Amino acid sequence: MGILDGKGAIVTGAGRGIGRGHALHLAANGASVVVNDVDRGEAKGVVAEIAKNGGRASLNASDISDREGARALVAQCADEFGGVHILVNNAGNVKDRSFLKMSDDEFGDVLRVHVFGTFMCSQEAALRMKEQGSGGSIVNTVSAAHFGNFGQTNYAGSKGAIASMTYTWAVELARYGIRVNAISPSGTTRMSASAKIGGKVVDLPFLDPARNGAFVAFLCSDDADYVTGQIFGTGGERVTILEQPRYGTSMLKPGGWEVEDLQEHFKNHLGKQLEPVGLMKTPYPFYDGVKPPGA
Ligand SMILES: NC(=O)c1ccc[n+]([C@@H]2O[C@H](COP(=O)([O-])OP(=O)(O)OC[C@H]3O[C@@H](n4cnc5c(N)ncnc54)[C@H](O)[C@@H]3O)[C@@H](O)[C@H]2O)c1
Repeated sequence: MGILDGKGAIVTGAGRGIGRGHALHLAANGASVVVNDVDRGEAKGVVAEIAKNGGRASLNASDISDREGARALVAQCADEFGGVHILVNNAGNVKDRSFLKMSDDEFGDVLRVHVFGTFMCSQEAALRMKEQGSGGSIVNTVSAAHFGNFGQTNYAGSKGAIASMTYTWAVELARYGIRVNAISPSGTTRMSASAKIGGKVVDLPFLDPARNGAFVAFLCSDDADYVTGQIFGTGGERVTILEQPRYGTSMLKPGGWEVEDLQEHFKNHLGKQLEPVGLMKTPYPFYDGVKPPGA
């Protein structure tokens, strides 16, 4: 008996890297898995690997950033596996460039896969889950880059949008028994090979990308039927809960703040508690002012 027995699952971008690990773990825990990837050859290899391990999987090579592709993917899972109970939105791409040089195409190509792909696959899957009356689990994929990372306007913006969509869908879909969470994974992959922090290439130690999969399998099981609207850092040896944005310390003034009041009070109150900026969460670096070159 597996904790996902009888469930039909979809993993997008599962031909390699982190998605491959999700697909292997879901199948090993009893789910029947549609292995999606535009790279058909890689997806075929993962389907074969699951079959060799005694699991059940089928291949789908749809482009998930296209409405027809998303619809066909979800229909395939329903037709072949008797329903759609799990969707893991994992497919992703990067086209890094500093903000002032980024083209519309570089911006749009990344938003299309991450934001539109996650939106369309989730909408198609959630409609099925609602129609089935079965409930379900959607797992989105964000990244610490959404805290802000040099050269990643398109990618960071996409992951921030996915985080906000996760919170929103958790609120909207709970009434149908559909849970929506996200992970911020880590692993050594084709994508991580090009990763830069603060604009610099970093030589990170090897991290098995498949190590994110066990948590995804648990999150999609009925053992986690009370977990929704959450984001977890996964990979390596840890699972971390991501603290969500919330209003912090306030300044209050009866009647509200005028510009003169802010000139007088801001710097000594909120101005002393500015938040760290960017992925590395270094202490706030601009207390001496943000100045043009040579100033
Ligand atoms: N590797 C990391 O450390 C890391 C960190 C944070 C977040 N992530 C996220 O994890 C996810 C997986 O990343 P990865 O590192 O395994 O990358 P990867 O490049 O190794 O794998 C991504 C897969 O998605 C597929 N894909 C891309 N566009 C597609 C589309 N339109 N339709 C279907 N498939 C498509 C690719 O063919 C590829 O096989 C991504 O969402 C990424 O942003 C990765």
